[in-house]
Amino acid sequence: MNIRQIPEHELARLREKAKEITGSQSDYHSSYTELLSRRLNGEPLQYIEEYIPFYSIQINVDQRCLIPRPETEYLIEFIKNNSDNPKKILDVGTGTGCIALMLKKLYPESTVDACDISLEALDLAKENAEINNLEINLFQSDLLSDVEEVDYDIIVANLPYIPTETLSSLESEVVDYEPLLALDGGIDGLLYINRLIKEIEEKDIRNLTLFLEVDTSHATTILNNLSHWKQVQLERDLVERDRYIIAKR
Ligand SMILES: C[S@@+](CC[C@H](N)C(=O)[O-])C[C@H]1O[C@@H](n2cnc3c(N)ncnc32)[C@H](O)[C@@H]1O
Repeated sequence: MNIRQIPEHELARLREKAKEITGSQSDYHSSYTELLSRRLNGEPLQYIEEYIPFYSIQINVDQRCLIPRPETEYLIEFIKNNSDNPKKILDVGTGTGCIALMLKKLYPESTVDACDISLEALDLAKENAEINNLEINLFQSDLLSDVEEVDYDIIVANLPYIPTETLSSLESEVVDYEPLLALDGGIDGLLYINRLIKEIEEKDIRNLTLFLEVDTSHATTILNNLSHWKQVQLERDLVERDRYIIAKR
């Protein structure tokens, strides 16, 4: 990447970050040069800035976790429009904790559990809970293997869905910086989503609404896998791609 490829609005954000780091509105140039060289090396802007707005909270981000995407903020909107005062919520593969924390903010009376297989991600999610002053229960689990409760009103998951083979064709900004554990969805990209559906059935979790963020190309297969559930609905994102599945059991 060369400096001409960095749009002015990004340069402005890097300048603001340099000012924040140095605490000076005028003497920030060496800090700016350092941040600019990280960006020129391909590091995502959000990791350099260290935090992002997510819906109505602020989330710290670094290389322990995937950077939450705008599509995931939109998933919150679907949950809001399709839930009636949930008492108990589980976020599987919580990453930064963005979904779990935002739901706790929307439903302060609810109990929100959030798990991830990555201890590093859980550390970051804990920091995010603290800075937002929101109380959620964080624990390590390989999908539902260490989930003991079965009385969830909502289970939400944005699990890795990129087929292993296509990982190398992703932009280097993604594949060189974001954790593989947050991206790699196995041979067909469906490994974790299929396993989650199976584990919900094996644990016989009922009276539940499952919200999934999925890759457009996987939507039909996942809908078929859920066809024996009580009610299944497909929703589109802001650019009309099939991206969310809402399923009741
Ligand atoms: C695509 S990221 C999503 C993170 C966050 N929920 C979000 O929407 O920004 C997927 C997350 O799933 C976690 N993960 C991967 N495999 C898992 C597994 N077997 N069990 C639980 N979490 C897993 C990763 O560590 C990562 O944090």
